[in-house]
Amino acid sequence: SGNINIAIDGPAGAGKSTIARRVAEALAYVYVDTGAMYRAVTWYMLLKGIEPEEDQKVLQTAQNMVIELKPGVDGQKVLVNGEDVSDQIRSLAVNAKVSRYAQIEGLRNLLVTLQRQMALRKGVVMDGRDIGTTVLPDAEVKVFMTASVQERARRRYNEIKDTAAITLEQLEHDIAERDRLDEQREISPLRQAEDAEFLDTTNMSLSEVTDAIISMCRTYG
Ligand code: C5P
Repeated sequence: SGNINIAIDGPAGAGKSTIARRVAEALAYVYVDTGAMYRAVTWYMLLKGIEPEEDQKVLQTAQNMVIELKPGVDGQKVLVNGEDVSDQIRSLAVNAKVSRYAQIEGLRNLLVTLQRQMALRKGVVMDGRDIGTTVLPDAEVKVFMTASVQERARRRYNEIKDTAAITLEQLEHDIAERDRLDEQREISPLRQAEDAEFLDTTNMSLSEVTDAIISMCRTYG
């Protein structure tokens, strides 16, 4: 078939998952949220009381976890050992710790291997931090999406303000801290692949961004 792979990277709260889901829907492709995999591992380690410093224990435990990503009615469902943890992995506790576990080299290798398997047959829209640089360096379309930290915090705040006990300022601080850890880590840091299209979405609507990516796919090849 003429299916291609699409890699979407960028910092926290840039709207990658919403956009990736819309692009996947428009093209009848499979959406893979790699952040959800790091979040699922983090949720499980917190449950088991395993600290990010215990990297061998993290790796052993992660090797014995079954992580599944399944399409659901309102977005993707995430299952750990058969249990639906889609809501739990979005908690503030997971937000605060996920970038620490994501620094562990062995854990990254394990998840990257799974991610590559998911993309073997093409027709995948994958979002994350290292998709264009490390996971799928041969993806036919690569996008690096960002927006100002204020705008990213504001978008996230509008999504969660009714349910979460957090202020806009705290959220902005959390996002900036996660960006710092993701950009500065040694293994596959967050950065734009040389052949990725840069999209600053600060002043763009969801449909403008979605359309921009779909037209990159149309002009591909
Ligand atoms: O995309 P999301 O914000 O849900 O990702 C949560 C965290 O997982 C990121 O802040 C980053 O630390 C880690 N992550 C990663 N590599 C990816 C996807 C996510 O290190 N490909």
